[in-house]
Amino acid sequence: MDQYRVFGNPIKQSRSPYIHQAFAQSTDQQLSYQSELVEINAFSAKVHQFFRSGGKGANITVPFKEQALLLCDQLSDRARLAGAVNTLSFINGKILGDNTDGLGLVQDLLRHQITLKNSRILLLGAGGAAKGVILPLLEQQPTLMVIANRTISKAKNLCSHFNDKKLTFSGYEEINCDFDLIINATSASLSGNLPLISKELIKTKTVCYDMVYGKELTPFLNWAKDLGAKQLIDGLGMLVGQAAESFALWRAVKPEVESVIDNLRDALVKE
Ligand code: ATR
Repeated sequence: MDQYRVFGNPIKQSRSPYIHQAFAQSTDQQLSYQSELVEINAFSAKVHQFFRSGGKGANITVPFKEQALLLCDQLSDRARLAGAVNTLSFINGKILGDNTDGLGLVQDLLRHQITLKNSRILLLGAGGAAKGVILPLLEQQPTLMVIANRTISKAKNLCSHFNDKKLTFSGYEEINCDFDLIINATSASLSGNLPLISKELIKTKTVCYDMVYGKELTPFLNWAKDLGAKQLIDGLGMLVGQAAESFALWRAVKPEVESVIDNLRDALVKE
């Protein structure tokens, strides 16, 4: 049976084995997908050993996504511009690297019927999470996308990697236009914090998305809710969406995500 892995450290919390097994079942694919803890200094050796022993593909999670980029024989543009790889495929003796995080986000936004074409998008954060989604968001042809970060120099630097007139950068205090969609790609929610942007940015037409998800609304979504935002979406659908894109790369069949998201949401609520 074809073997797949998710490699990370820590890895116990990973929902990828559940998600991929559900996809395999719904698409009638015979495969095995398991999670594997990798020691911090053993990543490259582990991946090579897995592919030498017949492995077909792997997802890469924290903290190895940047290292994964270095061991690929070939990279997609998405992975190169994201500076990180979350999907490896082993084809004809070569390791191919891709990054499906941004596609997962775009798919999830479209699934929620959010219009991206001709929209104005504010992306909060300039770390790895933000970097991974910029190209797929720009490909949806928004009118404008602003990367805003607490440390403005990082937003400026990130912006300079993309040659696109629609993309600009800002600090939090200088943000001064109207947005249809605000995406929180900072890690603030993980520590119970909020990116300190102006309340004025949240209007009744504003859709707010947090890449983090949890049992409760994230601090950012809670804040946006109190200010009357139009729609609140957390990152659970993005997680399943990026997995679906990896699965499609490996198996050439696109699995249905809805029921998997619903099951994960039910399990999360019961935790
Ligand atoms: P990763 O690569 O895992 O995304 P990172 O490079 O440390 O991690 O980036 C984390 C992002 O979250 C950064 O944009 C960071 O802002 P700074 O560059 O100013 O540090 C942002 N971030 C983290 N905690 C935050 C907080 N409490 N408020 C606002 N932004 C925060």
